Amino acid sequence: MDEVVALCKRRGLIFPASEIYGGIANTYDYGHYGVLLKRNVTDAWWKAMIQERDDIVALDSAIIQHPRTWEASGHLAGFSDPLVQCLGKCKKRWRLDHLQEAAVEAGEDPAAVRCPQCGGELTEPRAFNLMFQTNIGPVQEEGSTVFLRPETAQGIFLDFKTTLQYARKKPPFGIAQIGKSFRNEITPGNFIFRTLEFEQMEMEFFVPPDEAPNWHEYWINERLEWYVSLGVDRDKLRLRPHGPEELSHYSSATSDIEYLFPIGWSELEGIANRGDFDLKQHAEHSGQKLDYVDTATGDRYVPYVIEPAAGLGRTVLTLLCDAYDEDEIGGEQRTVLRLQPSMAPIKAAVLPLVNKDGQPEKARAIYEELRSRMSAEYDTGGSIGKRYRRQDEIGTPWGITVDHQTMEDDTVTLRDRDTLEQVRLPVAGLADELAGRLERP
Ligand code: GAP
Repeated sequence: MDEVVALCKRRGLIFPASEIYGGIANTYDYGHYGVLLKRNVTDAWWKAMIQERDDIVALDSAIIQHPRTWEASGHLAGFSDPLVQCLGKCKKRWRLDHLQEAAVEAGEDPAAVRCPQCGGELTEPRAFNLMFQTNIGPVQEEGSTVFLRPETAQGIFLDFKTTLQYARKKPPFGIAQIGKSFRNEITPGNFIFRTLEFEQMEMEFFVPPDEAPNWHEYWINERLEWYVSLGVDRDKLRLRPHGPEELSHYSSATSDIEYLFPIGWSELEGIANRGDFDLKQHAEHSGQKLDYVDTATGDRYVPYVIEPAAGLGRTVLTLLCDAYDEDEIGGEQRTVLRLQPSMAPIKAAVLPLVNKDGQPEKARAIYEELRSRMSAEYDTGGSIGKRYRRQDEIGTPWGITVDHQTMEDDTVTLRDRDTLEQVRLPVAGLADELAGRLERP
Protein backbone atom coordinates (compact mmCIF):
# COMPACT_ATOMS: atom_id res chain seq x y z
CA MET A 1 0.00 0.00 0.00
CA ASP A 2 2.87 2.38 0.85
CA GLU A 3 4.23 2.02 -2.69
CA VAL A 4 0.86 2.79 -4.24
CA VAL A 5 0.41 5.79 -1.93
CA ALA A 6 3.88 7.07 -2.82
CA LEU A 7 3.25 6.69 -6.55
CA CYS A 8 -0.09 8.51 -6.27
CA LYS A 9 1.59 11.42 -4.48
CA ARG A 10 4.62 11.53 -6.80
CA ARG A 11 2.54 11.59 -9.96
CA GLY A 12 -0.24 13.72 -8.56
CA LEU A 13 -3.03 11.16 -8.82
CA ILE A 14 -4.17 11.37 -5.20
CA PHE A 15 -2.65 13.23 -2.24
CA PRO A 16 -3.63 14.34 1.27
CA ALA A 17 -6.10 17.24 1.41
CA SER A 18 -5.22 20.47 3.26
CA GLU A 19 -1.60 19.43 3.13
CA ILE A 20 -0.18 22.92 3.72
CA TYR A 21 -1.98 22.85 7.11
CA GLY A 22 -0.68 19.41 7.93
CA GLY A 23 -3.55 17.49 6.34
CA ILE A 24 -6.95 16.45 7.70
CA ALA A 25 -7.85 12.95 8.84
CA ASN A 26 -8.94 10.46 6.19
CA THR A 27 -9.40 13.10 3.48
CA TYR A 28 -7.71 13.16 0.08
CA ASP A 29 -7.65 15.27 -3.08
CA TYR A 30 -7.50 13.87 -6.60
CA GLY A 31 -5.07 15.54 -9.00
CA HIS A 32 -5.17 15.59 -12.80
CA TYR A 33 -4.53 11.89 -13.52
CA GLY A 34 -6.62 10.82 -10.54
CA VAL A 35 -9.56 12.80 -11.88
CA LEU A 36 -9.19 11.18 -15.31
CA LEU A 37 -8.96 7.71 -13.76
CA LYS A 38 -12.05 8.35 -11.65
CA ARG A 39 -13.93 9.55 -14.71
CA ASN A 40 -13.06 6.38 -16.59
CA VAL A 41 -14.61 4.37 -13.75
CA THR A 42 -17.80 6.46 -13.57
CA ASP A 43 -18.14 6.39 -17.36
CA ALA A 44 -17.89 2.58 -17.28
CA TRP A 45 -20.47 2.42 -14.47
CA TRP A 46 -22.95 4.68 -16.29
CA LYS A 47 -22.40 2.67 -19.47
CA ALA A 48 -23.19 -0.61 -17.70
CA MET A 49 -26.15 0.83 -15.77
CA ILE A 50 -27.76 3.14 -18.32
CA GLN A 51 -26.36 3.02 -21.85
CA GLU A 52 -26.46 -0.75 -22.23
CA ARG A 53 -29.86 -1.24 -20.57
CA ASP A 54 -33.36 0.14 -20.84
CA ASP A 55 -34.63 -0.71 -17.36
CA ILE A 56 -32.63 1.82 -15.32
CA VAL A 57 -32.89 5.62 -15.21
CA ALA A 58 -30.43 8.17 -13.84
CA LEU A 59 -30.84 10.54 -10.91
CA ASP A 60 -28.81 13.24 -9.16
CA SER A 61 -30.49 13.96 -5.83
CA ALA A 62 -29.54 16.51 -3.15
CA ILE A 63 -26.90 15.84 -0.52
CA ILE A 64 -28.90 17.64 2.18
CA GLN A 65 -32.43 16.27 2.38
CA HIS A 66 -35.31 16.89 4.78
CA PRO A 67 -34.08 15.81 8.24
CA ARG A 68 -37.00 13.43 8.68
CA THR A 69 -35.43 11.34 5.90
CA TRP A 70 -32.90 10.04 8.41
CA GLU A 71 -35.49 9.34 11.07
CA ALA A 72 -37.42 7.23 8.57
CA SER A 73 -34.38 5.50 7.13
CA GLY A 74 -33.20 4.44 10.57
CA HIS A 75 -29.88 6.25 10.25
CA LEU A 76 -30.54 8.61 13.17
CA ALA A 77 -31.16 5.75 15.54
CA GLY A 78 -29.10 2.96 14.07
CA PHE A 79 -26.22 4.20 11.89
CA SER A 80 -23.48 3.90 14.43
CA ASP A 81 -20.23 2.08 15.04
CA PRO A 82 -19.28 0.41 18.34
CA LEU A 83 -16.38 2.56 19.52
CA VAL A 84 -13.87 1.50 22.17
CA GLN A 85 -10.93 3.43 23.59
CA CYS A 86 -7.64 2.08 24.87
CA LEU A 87 -7.29 2.41 28.65
CA GLY A 88 -3.57 1.67 28.41
CA LYS A 89 -0.73 3.89 27.24
CA CYS A 90 -1.80 4.96 23.74
CA LYS A 91 -5.48 5.97 24.42
CA LYS A 92 -6.30 5.23 20.80
CA ARG A 93 -9.87 4.72 19.60
CA TRP A 94 -10.85 1.58 17.72
CA ARG A 95 -13.92 0.02 16.19
CA LEU A 96 -14.76 -3.02 18.28
CA ASP A 97 -16.30 -4.87 15.30
CA HIS A 98 -13.04 -4.47 13.32
CA LEU A 99 -10.93 -5.77 16.22
CA GLN A 100 -13.27 -8.72 16.71
CA GLU A 101 -13.24 -9.60 12.99
CA ALA A 102 -9.42 -9.57 13.03
CA ALA A 103 -9.42 -11.78 16.15
CA VAL A 104 -11.75 -14.33 14.51
CA GLU A 105 -9.55 -14.40 11.39
CA ALA A 106 -6.47 -14.99 13.55
CA GLY A 107 -8.23 -17.83 15.42
CA GLU A 108 -8.32 -15.80 18.67
CA ASP A 109 -11.15 -15.15 21.11
CA PRO A 110 -13.13 -12.10 19.87
CA ALA A 111 -14.44 -11.49 23.41
CA ALA A 112 -10.92 -10.96 24.73
CA VAL A 113 -9.60 -8.31 22.32
CA ARG A 114 -7.12 -5.73 23.61
CA CYS A 115 -5.60 -2.60 22.08
CA PRO A 116 -3.68 -3.67 18.93
CA GLN A 117 -1.19 -0.82 19.42
CA CYS A 118 -0.10 -1.08 23.08
CA GLY A 119 -1.96 -4.14 24.36
CA GLY A 120 -3.96 -2.02 26.84
CA GLU A 121 -7.42 -2.87 28.09
CA LEU A 122 -10.37 -1.39 26.19
CA THR A 123 -13.41 0.56 27.41
CA GLU A 124 -16.94 -0.78 27.03
CA PRO A 125 -18.21 -0.04 23.49
CA ARG A 126 -20.12 3.19 22.92
CA ALA A 127 -22.43 3.74 19.91
CA PHE A 128 -21.08 6.55 17.77
CA ASN A 129 -23.36 7.96 15.04
CA LEU A 130 -21.55 8.40 11.76
CA MET A 131 -23.65 11.21 10.30
CA PHE A 132 -22.23 14.73 9.97
CA GLN A 133 -24.61 17.32 11.30
CA THR A 134 -24.98 20.96 10.28
CA ASN A 135 -27.60 23.74 10.34
CA ILE A 136 -29.70 25.57 7.81
CA GLY A 137 -29.86 29.31 8.44
CA PRO A 138 -27.77 31.76 10.49
CA VAL A 139 -28.68 30.47 13.95
CA GLN A 140 -28.75 27.06 15.50
CA GLU A 141 -32.37 26.58 16.49
CA GLU A 142 -34.77 23.73 16.78
CA GLY A 143 -35.74 22.35 13.42
CA SER A 144 -32.70 23.73 11.60
CA THR A 145 -30.49 20.67 12.10
CA VAL A 146 -29.76 18.79 8.90
CA PHE A 147 -27.39 15.99 7.94
CA LEU A 148 -24.95 15.34 5.14
CA ARG A 149 -26.18 12.12 3.53
CA PRO A 150 -24.32 8.99 4.63
CA GLU A 151 -25.56 7.10 1.54
CA THR A 152 -26.92 8.29 -1.81
CA ALA A 153 -29.64 5.62 -1.69
CA GLN A 154 -32.14 7.61 0.39
CA GLY A 155 -32.45 10.33 -2.28
CA ILE A 156 -33.51 7.58 -4.68
CA PHE A 157 -36.24 6.35 -2.31
CA LEU A 158 -37.53 9.90 -1.81
CA ASP A 159 -37.82 10.30 -5.60
CA PHE A 160 -39.33 6.85 -6.23
CA LYS A 161 -42.85 8.19 -6.76
CA THR A 162 -41.78 11.09 -9.00
CA THR A 163 -39.61 8.79 -11.09
CA LEU A 164 -42.39 6.24 -11.43
CA GLN A 165 -44.64 9.00 -12.76
CA TYR A 166 -42.33 10.52 -15.36
CA ALA A 167 -40.11 7.62 -16.45
CA ARG A 168 -42.94 5.28 -17.60
CA LYS A 169 -41.22 2.28 -16.00
CA LYS A 170 -42.67 -0.54 -13.98
CA PRO A 171 -40.94 -3.05 -11.69
CA PRO A 172 -38.46 -4.51 -12.32
CA PHE A 173 -36.70 -1.20 -12.94
CA GLY A 174 -33.88 0.73 -11.34
CA ILE A 175 -32.74 4.23 -10.44
CA ALA A 176 -29.01 4.89 -10.48
CA GLN A 177 -26.90 7.71 -9.14
CA ILE A 178 -23.34 8.68 -8.42
CA GLY A 179 -22.59 11.25 -5.77
CA LYS A 180 -20.77 12.17 -2.60
CA SER A 181 -21.65 10.68 0.76
CA PHE A 182 -20.21 11.61 4.14
CA ARG A 183 -19.40 9.58 7.23
CA ASN A 184 -17.64 10.63 10.38
CA GLU A 185 -15.16 7.74 10.26
CA ILE A 186 -12.83 7.80 13.22
CA THR A 187 -10.68 4.74 12.58
CA PRO A 188 -7.59 4.63 10.34
CA GLY A 189 -8.66 4.97 6.75
CA ASN A 190 -5.94 3.04 4.87
CA PHE A 191 -5.44 5.74 2.24
CA ILE A 192 -8.64 6.17 0.18
CA PHE A 193 -10.17 2.90 1.39
CA ARG A 194 -12.10 4.66 4.15
CA THR A 195 -12.52 8.43 3.91
CA LEU A 196 -14.80 11.03 5.49
CA GLU A 197 -16.26 12.00 2.13
CA PHE A 198 -16.46 9.56 -0.72
CA GLU A 199 -18.37 9.00 -3.91
CA GLN A 200 -20.84 6.17 -4.12
CA MET A 201 -22.18 4.53 -7.27
CA GLU A 202 -25.54 3.18 -6.15
CA MET A 203 -28.47 1.67 -7.96
CA GLU A 204 -31.79 0.78 -6.36
CA PHE A 205 -33.59 -1.90 -8.39
CA PHE A 206 -37.31 -2.09 -7.59
CA VAL A 207 -38.82 -5.54 -8.12
CA PRO A 208 -42.00 -7.52 -7.37
CA PRO A 209 -41.41 -9.07 -3.88
CA ASP A 210 -41.44 -12.69 -5.06
CA GLU A 211 -38.72 -11.93 -7.64
CA ALA A 212 -36.31 -10.37 -5.12
CA PRO A 213 -34.10 -13.43 -4.41
CA ASN A 214 -33.53 -14.05 -8.14
CA TRP A 215 -32.70 -10.41 -8.84
CA HIS A 216 -30.34 -10.38 -5.86
CA GLU A 217 -28.44 -13.30 -7.34
CA TYR A 218 -28.51 -11.65 -10.78
CA TRP A 219 -26.99 -8.36 -9.54
CA ILE A 220 -24.30 -10.12 -7.50
CA ASN A 221 -23.08 -11.81 -10.69
CA GLU A 222 -23.45 -8.70 -12.88
CA ARG A 223 -21.45 -6.58 -10.50
CA LEU A 224 -18.67 -9.14 -10.06
CA GLU A 225 -18.30 -9.41 -13.84
CA TRP A 226 -18.21 -5.60 -14.09
CA TYR A 227 -14.99 -5.45 -12.06
CA VAL A 228 -13.51 -8.17 -14.26
CA SER A 229 -14.48 -6.09 -17.30
CA LEU A 230 -12.40 -3.20 -15.89
CA GLY A 231 -9.38 -5.51 -15.97
CA VAL A 232 -9.34 -6.50 -12.27
CA ASP A 233 -7.72 -9.89 -11.60
CA ARG A 234 -10.61 -12.33 -11.05
CA ASP A 235 -8.51 -14.35 -8.59
CA LYS A 236 -8.33 -11.33 -6.29
CA LEU A 237 -12.10 -10.90 -6.19
CA ARG A 238 -14.44 -12.96 -4.03
CA LEU A 239 -18.01 -12.92 -2.76
CA ARG A 240 -18.75 -12.92 0.94
CA PRO A 241 -22.34 -13.25 2.19
CA HIS A 242 -22.99 -11.36 5.46
CA GLY A 243 -23.81 -13.38 8.55
CA PRO A 244 -27.07 -12.45 10.33
CA GLU A 245 -25.21 -10.45 13.02
CA GLU A 246 -23.52 -8.09 10.57
CA LEU A 247 -26.49 -7.25 8.33
CA SER A 248 -27.35 -3.53 8.17
CA HIS A 249 -30.60 -2.51 9.85
CA TYR A 250 -32.39 -2.37 6.46
CA SER A 251 -31.07 -5.56 4.89
CA SER A 252 -32.44 -9.10 4.81
CA ALA A 253 -29.47 -10.39 2.80
CA THR A 254 -26.20 -8.81 1.69
CA SER A 255 -23.22 -10.14 -0.22
CA ASP A 256 -20.01 -8.17 -0.41
CA ILE A 257 -17.68 -8.22 -3.36
CA GLU A 258 -14.27 -8.22 -1.73
CA TYR A 259 -10.88 -7.50 -3.24
CA LEU A 260 -7.54 -8.74 -1.94
CA PHE A 261 -6.10 -5.30 -1.09
CA PRO A 262 -2.60 -5.08 0.43
CA ILE A 263 -4.47 -4.72 3.77
CA GLY A 264 -6.19 -8.09 3.16
CA TRP A 265 -9.57 -9.11 1.78
CA SER A 266 -11.87 -6.08 2.17
CA GLU A 267 -15.22 -4.83 0.94
CA LEU A 268 -15.34 -3.22 -2.46
CA GLU A 269 -19.10 -3.25 -3.00
CA GLY A 270 -22.16 -4.49 -1.12
CA ILE A 271 -25.20 -5.96 -2.87
CA ALA A 272 -28.16 -5.92 -0.51
CA ASN A 273 -31.73 -7.12 -0.58
CA ARG A 274 -33.33 -4.17 1.26
CA GLY A 275 -36.81 -5.66 0.96
CA ASP A 276 -39.59 -3.08 1.32
CA PHE A 277 -37.98 -1.51 4.41
CA ASP A 278 -37.14 1.91 2.94
CA LEU A 279 -40.27 2.58 0.89
CA LYS A 280 -42.50 1.47 3.79
CA GLN A 281 -40.61 3.66 6.26
CA HIS A 282 -40.82 6.74 4.02
CA ALA A 283 -44.50 6.06 3.26
CA GLU A 284 -45.23 5.95 6.98
CA HIS A 285 -43.19 9.04 7.87
CA SER A 286 -44.32 11.18 4.91
CA GLY A 287 -47.93 10.03 4.71
CA GLN A 288 -47.49 9.46 0.96
CA LYS A 289 -48.32 6.22 -0.84
CA LEU A 290 -45.10 4.67 -2.11
CA ASP A 291 -46.44 1.54 -3.73
CA TYR A 292 -46.91 0.36 -7.26
CA VAL A 293 -50.21 -0.45 -8.89
CA ASP A 294 -50.08 -2.78 -11.84
CA THR A 295 -52.72 -1.35 -14.16
CA ALA A 296 -53.03 -4.65 -16.07
CA THR A 297 -53.77 -6.86 -13.05
CA GLY A 298 -54.86 -4.28 -10.47
CA ASP A 299 -52.19 -5.67 -8.08
CA ARG A 300 -50.91 -3.13 -5.55
CA TYR A 301 -47.63 -3.78 -3.76
CA VAL A 302 -44.60 -2.09 -2.25
CA PRO A 303 -41.66 -3.17 -4.41
CA TYR A 304 -38.62 -4.87 -2.88
CA VAL A 305 -35.27 -3.25 -3.50
CA ILE A 306 -32.05 -4.89 -4.65
CA GLU A 307 -29.15 -2.51 -4.18
CA PRO A 308 -25.67 -2.79 -5.66
CA ALA A 309 -23.73 -0.09 -3.74
CA ALA A 310 -20.17 0.56 -4.86
CA GLY A 311 -17.53 3.04 -3.74
CA LEU A 312 -15.74 5.04 -6.41
CA GLY A 313 -12.62 5.58 -4.27
CA ARG A 314 -12.44 1.87 -3.44
CA THR A 315 -12.76 0.98 -7.12
CA VAL A 316 -9.94 3.41 -7.95
CA LEU A 317 -7.84 1.89 -5.15
CA THR A 318 -8.58 -1.61 -6.47
CA LEU A 319 -7.47 -0.63 -9.98
CA LEU A 320 -4.29 0.98 -8.63
CA CYS A 321 -3.35 -1.96 -6.39
CA ASP A 322 -4.20 -4.46 -9.12
CA ALA A 323 -2.19 -2.61 -11.77
CA TYR A 324 0.86 -1.65 -9.70
CA ASP A 325 4.01 -3.46 -10.78
CA GLU A 326 7.75 -3.09 -10.74
CA ASP A 327 10.17 -4.59 -13.24
CA GLU A 328 13.58 -3.95 -14.71
CA ILE A 329 14.48 -2.56 -18.10
CA GLY A 330 18.12 -2.59 -19.13
CA GLY A 331 19.21 -2.93 -15.52
CA GLU A 332 17.01 -0.04 -14.42
CA GLN A 333 14.08 -0.40 -12.05
CA ARG A 334 10.72 0.61 -13.54
CA THR A 335 7.40 1.28 -11.83
CA VAL A 336 4.46 0.60 -14.08
CA LEU A 337 0.70 0.70 -13.75
CA ARG A 338 -0.61 -2.11 -15.92
CA LEU A 339 -4.06 -0.59 -16.23
CA GLN A 340 -6.43 -1.85 -18.88
CA PRO A 341 -6.26 0.81 -21.67
CA SER A 342 -9.89 1.86 -21.14
CA MET A 343 -9.06 2.74 -17.52
CA ALA A 344 -5.72 4.47 -18.17
CA PRO A 345 -5.89 8.24 -17.50
CA ILE A 346 -3.86 8.89 -20.67
CA LYS A 347 -4.15 6.51 -23.61
CA ALA A 348 -1.27 7.71 -25.75
CA ALA A 349 1.77 9.95 -25.29
CA VAL A 350 3.25 11.55 -28.39
CA LEU A 351 6.97 12.15 -28.03
CA PRO A 352 9.42 13.73 -30.47
CA LEU A 353 12.76 11.90 -30.23
CA VAL A 354 14.69 15.18 -30.43
CA ASN A 355 13.61 18.77 -30.02
CA LYS A 356 14.66 19.87 -33.50
CA ASP A 357 14.43 19.02 -37.22
CA GLY A 358 10.68 19.60 -37.31
CA GLN A 359 10.03 16.64 -34.98
CA PRO A 360 8.30 18.67 -32.20
CA GLU A 361 5.92 20.29 -34.72
CA LYS A 362 5.13 16.92 -36.31
CA ALA A 363 4.56 15.28 -32.92
CA ARG A 364 2.29 18.11 -31.82
CA ALA A 365 0.21 17.79 -35.00
CA ILE A 366 -0.24 14.04 -34.36
CA TYR A 367 -1.17 14.75 -30.74
CA GLU A 368 -3.74 17.36 -31.76
CA GLU A 369 -5.37 14.91 -34.13
CA LEU A 370 -5.38 12.16 -31.52
CA ARG A 371 -6.78 14.16 -28.61
CA SER A 372 -10.21 14.58 -30.18
CA ARG A 373 -10.55 10.77 -30.09
CA MET A 374 -8.92 9.91 -26.73
CA SER A 375 -7.01 11.47 -23.86
CA ALA A 376 -3.46 12.00 -25.10
CA GLU A 377 -0.36 13.88 -24.02
CA TYR A 378 2.44 15.65 -25.86
CA ASP A 379 5.72 15.58 -23.96
CA THR A 380 9.09 17.04 -24.90
CA GLY A 381 10.73 17.20 -21.47
CA GLY A 382 13.79 15.02 -20.81
CA SER A 383 15.35 12.00 -22.47
CA ILE A 384 13.07 9.60 -24.34
CA GLY A 385 13.71 6.94 -21.67
CA LYS A 386 12.65 9.32 -18.91
CA ARG A 387 9.51 10.26 -20.79
CA TYR A 388 8.55 6.60 -21.32
CA ARG A 389 9.13 5.96 -17.63
CA ARG A 390 6.87 8.86 -16.63
CA GLN A 391 4.10 7.49 -18.83
CA ASP A 392 4.61 3.94 -17.52
CA GLU A 393 4.06 5.24 -13.98
CA ILE A 394 0.65 6.64 -14.82
CA GLY A 395 -0.29 3.59 -16.89
CA THR A 396 -0.24 5.07 -20.41
CA PRO A 397 -0.53 1.99 -22.65
CA TRP A 398 0.93 3.48 -25.85
CA GLY A 399 3.92 5.70 -26.60
CA ILE A 400 4.14 7.22 -30.06
CA THR A 401 7.58 8.39 -31.03
CA VAL A 402 8.35 10.77 -33.86
CA ASP A 403 11.91 10.35 -35.17
CA HIS A 404 14.00 11.18 -38.22
CA GLN A 405 12.31 8.44 -40.26
CA THR A 406 8.92 10.01 -39.52
CA MET A 407 10.06 13.11 -41.36
CA GLU A 408 10.89 10.99 -44.40
CA ASP A 409 8.08 8.44 -44.67
CA ASP A 410 5.34 9.66 -42.28
CA THR A 411 5.54 6.62 -39.98
CA VAL A 412 5.99 6.53 -36.20
CA THR A 413 6.97 3.90 -33.66
CA LEU A 414 4.25 2.63 -31.37
CA ARG A 415 5.58 1.35 -28.04
CA ASP A 416 3.56 -1.03 -25.90
CA ARG A 417 3.78 -0.31 -22.15
CA ASP A 418 3.63 -3.99 -21.13
CA THR A 419 5.55 -5.89 -23.81
CA LEU A 420 7.85 -2.93 -24.60
CA GLU A 421 7.50 -4.01 -28.22
CA GLN A 422 7.88 -1.21 -30.77
CA VAL A 423 6.22 -1.41 -34.16
CA ARG A 424 6.31 1.05 -37.04
CA LEU A 425 2.98 2.36 -38.25
CA PRO A 426 1.89 4.99 -40.77
CA VAL A 427 0.61 8.21 -39.18
CA ALA A 428 -2.47 7.97 -41.39
CA GLY A 429 -4.81 5.55 -39.63
CA LEU A 430 -2.96 5.70 -36.30
CA ALA A 431 -5.96 7.23 -34.46
CA ASP A 432 -8.27 4.57 -35.94
CA GLU A 433 -5.88 1.81 -34.91
CA LEU A 434 -5.71 3.00 -31.29
CA ALA A 435 -9.46 3.69 -31.09
CA GLY A 436 -10.05 0.13 -32.34
CA ARG A 437 -7.70 -1.30 -29.72
CA LEU A 438 -9.49 0.69 -27.02
CA GLU A 439 -12.85 -0.77 -27.97
CA ARG A 440 -11.62 -4.35 -28.09
CA PRO A 441 -12.53 -6.32 -24.93
N1 GAP B 1 -26.47 2.26 0.45
C1 GAP B 1 -25.77 1.17 1.02
C2 GAP B 1 -24.48 1.54 1.56
O1 GAP B 1 -24.14 2.72 1.69
P1 GAP B 1 -22.24 0.55 2.45
O2 GAP B 1 -21.73 -0.85 2.42
O3 GAP B 1 -22.22 1.27 3.75
O4 GAP B 1 -23.72 0.48 1.88
C3 GAP B 1 -21.42 1.01 0.02
O5 GAP B 1 -21.47 1.41 1.37
C4 GAP B 1 -20.02 1.18 -0.52
O6 GAP B 1 -19.60 2.53 -0.32
C5 GAP B 1 -18.96 0.34 0.19
O7 GAP B 1 -18.91 -0.96 -0.34
C6 GAP B 1 -17.71 1.11 -0.12
O8 GAP B 1 -17.23 0.81 -1.41
C7 GAP B 1 -18.19 2.55 -0.11
N2 GAP B 1 -17.90 3.18 1.20
C8 GAP B 1 -18.63 3.10 2.32
N3 GAP B 1 -18.07 3.84 3.31
C9 GAP B 1 -16.95 4.38 2.78
C10 GAP B 1 -15.92 5.25 3.28
N4 GAP B 1 -15.96 5.74 4.51
N5 GAP B 1 -14.92 5.60 2.45
C11 GAP B 1 -14.87 5.15 1.18
N6 GAP B 1 -15.81 4.34 0.65
C12 GAP B 1 -16.83 3.96 1.43
